Amino acid sequence: MRRAIFPGSFDPLTNGHLDIIKRSAPLFDEMVIAVLNNADKRPMFSVDERCEMIREVLPTVETDGCKMSVESFSGLTADFARTSGATAIVRGIRAVSDYEYELRMALMNRRLEPTIETVFLMAGEEYSYVSSTLMKQVFELGGRVEGLIPELVEAKMRDKKLA
Ligand code: PNS
Repeated sequence: MRRAIFPGSFDPLTNGHLDIIKRSAPLFDEMVIAVLNNADKRPMFSVDERCEMIREVLPTVETDGCKMSVESFSGLTADFARTSGATAIVRGIRAVSDYEYELRMALMNRRLEPTIETVFLMAGEEYSYVSSTLMKQVFELGGRVEGLIPELVEAKMRDKKLA
């Protein structure tokens, strides 16, 4: 049984995240989308809202028989991976600029949990500039984000803006 976690803030889920989920699913039997409960940041969506959105959107993604689930976590990713019984941590790399940060995290996670490997997947080039932070910024300022985030997420962002 090959189980992986795909950790992140997912504030909010983007099509870049979905691309990584689609690409990594065939490599594993089970994958937990691990949503960080980052209380010290001020997220646009609560951790429960983020988990719910991912659960709603996941059925639209081709996951090639990989059993998907969504869970929130606090604390160390390495600890969550171990207690989940995962042997891999999946992370997406968009551009060279991601590499340094991701390398530091991967090496630290390996030091914390030597049996768990980080698996890097290259995001599709059409998502190479897509980040949750950029999506929120462009949306807030009235720019178009269609095709870069799931429609459901865009609708929830609109609701937040109106609220
Ligand atoms: O989507 P993000 O914000 O790039 O995800 C970053 C995340 C959640 C993977 C990273 O911040 C993380 O692992 N946080 C949990 C705390 C932790 O384990 N820190 C040490 C990482 S080496």
